[in-house]
Amino acid sequence: MVAKIINGLEVSAAVKTRVKKAAQELKDSGVQPCLATVLVGDDPASATYVNSKQKTAGDLGIATRDHRLDSTFKQHELVELVHLLNNDSEVHGILVQLPLPSHINEFAIVNSINPIKDVDGLTPYNAGMLQNGMAILKPCTPSGVIELLDYYKIDVSGMDAVIVNRSNLVGLPLALMLIEKNATVTICHSKTRDLQTKLKNADLVITAVGNRQRFTLAADMVKDDSVVIDVGTSRQNGKLTGDVDFESVRQKAAWITPVPGGVGPMTIAMLMKNTVSAASISKGMNE
Ligand code: GUN
Repeated sequence: MVAKIINGLEVSAAVKTRVKKAAQELKDSGVQPCLATVLVGDDPASATYVNSKQKTAGDLGIATRDHRLDSTFKQHELVELVHLLNNDSEVHGILVQLPLPSHINEFAIVNSINPIKDVDGLTPYNAGMLQNGMAILKPCTPSGVIELLDYYKIDVSGMDAVIVNRSNLVGLPLALMLIEKNATVTICHSKTRDLQTKLKNADLVITAVGNRQRFTLAADMVKDDSVVIDVGTSRQNGKLTGDVDFESVRQKAAWITPVPGGVGPMTIAMLMKNTVSAASISKGMNE
């Protein structure tokens, strides 16, 4: 079987159309949705992501603040900036781009964000709400993966899902979201024994490694007619690639996401969706 392509550009465009309309409605009711991004240091990949987030927000009628800080910025200064944004009634969403420089404790920063402005869904409060099936603001990349599965009506109930990633940004929240949809989930990582067998038995494989030298998902590693979602991104000779050997795996899987044009555009679309949700929560609180 040749896999059907899961088109993240098409699905993200549909999400963005809905978000743009919701942003306009909020604006008409007197609330201008606003996203503040914070970037510390000069990592080029992070700068590219933040630039895209800023541009997409502008395209959808979401106002932005853009804080770019030197890599020597201190942890307590960053906490102070987050507190200023927490207390700024015109700002509805706060995104601190990760990773942060090693002298800054990421948990301390994430934990300083007011959960109602936490458009990454990473604060302990929102992570706990997700675990309880009650979250409004959920992490963007996993929500984007779920949006893709829903759009193509891929029913994961009863599926054996293998996630190759255990981070707070991707693997852990995605596991919760898939369990909520009745999948049976295995989280794998660098210390997992016999990853090959786990992958080969999986109906749904989601990989987010981002290093082709360390991990490449080849056709002989997946089951016939499986669903393969590629969240990894890395550069090979200047070209953006995923974790998956796309050309060979697509000959075997039932569904597959390309890189670029798969999960990537979804992350940004879901961030915009969360920003509008955060603006509407704040509107509700001020009424
Ligand atoms: N770095 C890579 N992905 C993300 C994301 O979704 N949010 C933040 N804040 N940083 C990231």
